[in-house]
Amino acid sequence: MTVDEVKIGGLGAKRRRVEDSRFIRGMGNYVDDITLPGMLHMEILRSPLAHARIKSVDASAALAIPGVQLVLTGELLASRNLAWMPTLSYDTQAVLATDKVRFQGQEVACVVADDPYIAKDACEAIVVDYEALPVIVNPTQATANGAPVIRDDKENQHDNVVFDWEVGDKDGTDRAFAAADVVSELELHYPRSHPSPIETCGSIADFDRATSKLTVYMTTQAPHIIRAAVAMVAEIPEHMIRIVSPDLGGGFGNKVPIYPGYVVSILASILLERPVKWIEDKTGNLISTGFGRDIYLRGQMALRNDGKILGVRMHTDSDHGAFFSDAQPSKFKIGLMHAAFACYDIPVAHLTARGVYTNKAPGGVAYRCSFRITEAMFFQERMVQAAADDLGLDQAEIRRLNFVKDDDFPHRTPFGFLTDSGQYGKCLEIGLEAIGYEDFLKQKEEARKNGRLLGIGISTMTEPLGAGNSREYDILGIKMFDSAELRVHMTGKALLRTGAKSQGQGHETTWAQIVAHELGIPADDVVVEEGDTDTAPFGMGTYASRSTPVAGAAVSMVSRKIRAKARKIAAHLLEVSEEDIEWELGRFYLRSSPDSGVTIQECAMAAYSNLPDGMEPGLENNAYYDPPNLTWPFGCYIATVEVDPLTGVWDVLNFVAVDDCGVRINPMIVEGQIMGGLAEAYAMANMQFITFDSEGNCVGSNYMDYLLPTAWETPGFELHEVVTPCPHHPIGAKGVGECATVGGPAAFVNAVIDALKGTGVRNIDMPLLPDRVYEALTEGHDVSGSPPVRTDL
Ligand code: CDP
Repeated sequence: MTVDEVKIGGLGAKRRRVEDSRFIRGMGNYVDDITLPGMLHMEILRSPLAHARIKSVDASAALAIPGVQLVLTGELLASRNLAWMPTLSYDTQAVLATDKVRFQGQEVACVVADDPYIAKDACEAIVVDYEALPVIVNPTQATANGAPVIRDDKENQHDNVVFDWEVGDKDGTDRAFAAADVVSELELHYPRSHPSPIETCGSIADFDRATSKLTVYMTTQAPHIIRAAVAMVAEIPEHMIRIVSPDLGGGFGNKVPIYPGYVVSILASILLERPVKWIEDKTGNLISTGFGRDIYLRGQMALRNDGKILGVRMHTDSDHGAFFSDAQPSKFKIGLMHAAFACYDIPVAHLTARGVYTNKAPGGVAYRCSFRITEAMFFQERMVQAAADDLGLDQAEIRRLNFVKDDDFPHRTPFGFLTDSGQYGKCLEIGLEAIGYEDFLKQKEEARKNGRLLGIGISTMTEPLGAGNSREYDILGIKMFDSAELRVHMTGKALLRTGAKSQGQGHETTWAQIVAHELGIPADDVVVEEGDTDTAPFGMGTYASRSTPVAGAAVSMVSRKIRAKARKIAAHLLEVSEEDIEWELGRFYLRSSPDSGVTIQECAMAAYSNLPDGMEPGLENNAYYDPPNLTWPFGCYIATVEVDPLTGVWDVLNFVAVDDCGVRINPMIVEGQIMGGLAEAYAMANMQFITFDSEGNCVGSNYMDYLLPTAWETPGFELHEVVTPCPHHPIGAKGVGECATVGGPAAFVNAVIDALKGTGVRNIDMPLLPDRVYEALTEGHDVSGSPPVRTDL
């Protein structure tokens, strides 16, 4: 009997998410749900000032409060050489401040008490004497003559520059510009944004005196990296550390860095020999944990009159806050910014990038993107639109003209990446058809005559997803690959573990589908576990949509190893040689007599009960997968909008997304990922505003000011698909989790700028709040950068 792949929940099945049965019933197991016997609670005292010297910290009143067990200060940590920790980008970060505070919300002291309320009250009883210092909140101030040096703790740091980096062909690019008919220019700011998982960060450290083993339950997207870091910093042997990342209420990159709260809770548990829980509040999370973006981009495009792009120059000034703690491949200082323009056939390009320290919380976290790719693609698509406008060319046409063509793969991008597959033109045409492009252009012209402002914006991009390969990608020298371990029990049920860590993306559902596809074991018979370093194979975790490209591939490969062993067992059971049998989903059969066969479940039973002579018992294996290349999904996003000329408010009329992520494991989950990504893209373009005033106060530190769109505010999205299998992934899948967040914002912004065509406005920086749009419209000029925020109102 042939197994029906869709019925058993294999590839392409819209299998309902198995994890949802506990999530939607309130039965998830998040860090804050865990209570251990004798557990204490920790709270953090944060700095109210963005830049100040610490003259003294007096904790005596806090210590006198009944129920307070311990107060940890920078001084105490320094006495144990733990006041500073390494970051994932070869910088250092203060665990608790000793010399200075460098951003508002920085961790100054921690109180451990019998309950969280006592701990919070005790924090308020700590007296810190600060001497305020001049504050720097943007790259211009950071690099001005005479700017105070924020990182004066670092021996050779005499300015605020974190790095100066360049890539590409400068001379070749200069030559392309010399030969250009037209040079188009654009300058913009991608503002700070904050990945806002519903669950904040937290940890429970449990040092067991009897066994000397440290167990930490924590909100991390990369448990094995944390284990290695704890082993190095705390000098605890790695095998005596267990990191457990239970259910996570979202991550979006926010749960990749190592935060001081984790470190101090561990130290407190070791000192007190009791479990210590730290759960961050929302404001703590919003002001102090990894921000995304905050980058100033400017560039030029060399063009021929007919629209052919001859070359690109780009410069970025990125604001990293007080500590350079981005998690990104060590080789690339500005993440994968240089994947910009990868979908276009551009002969030459040059990128210079400078990163600076400011008095803001660490920034640069890859918020739902592959290391700075969101900023790269936003700039790319805004630049392409500006070029089309400068040339008086149709927005779709300039893209058609410059796209890498279907049979030009593999294609070397101007910055040296190798893209390997795609049907960019097809995706664009499907999108244009779905939005009714030609009709809308006519409608737009008609509306103009009646004073109505309609606009259409296109964004097309290919995103590099799935770091490694290990030759080029490492974090702190640890190579980027991933893993899966599969145990098929004797009754044919299975346990699968991977080195990835779902934060809500549905790995428990989709990984089982890959096993079903490879082995014919029904997906419902496969349980998936992730996030426990004592049981999961080593892996680099989940961020940058790398799970499907890397861990997902490992799931395929381990399943194939199991199948190879099962084939030998089947030959034994059928009393023939291996060469005489064939495989169809879920079953081996005799080539000469297809009705005679054995199922994968029968092979599993035999693996424990009836083995060929000399064969090792059991049906278990693991696979470490080092991808030969990144995967290159493609997204085409098209928005139509109407701008109200009296208020600057803009509404989305229609939105079409065409995504090509190769083979879809679970089309329903893929659509969910795209919907969620587009909601975030819309939020960034339309409403999310988290900035800093001139004194470094975080404006937007609560959800009254920093808006998350609900279903009410979010427009509808129409989704389409194209499937170009990834040539090197075992099942042809490409990553997808982030594509819509990455590509979406430019579609909205391009649409609003298009609606303002003829006013001379080339750019309004996100978020396109009504007052910014209104100002641009009525005054006929660009509205750029974060507006100065007044605190005296
Ligand atoms: O790394 P992360 O899980 O965030 O991103 P991803 O690998 O793009 O996967 C997001 C979700 O979509 C996972 O549940 C994947 O298994 C699923 N997916 C899929 O069903 N088909 C694809 N081609 C890509 C992802």
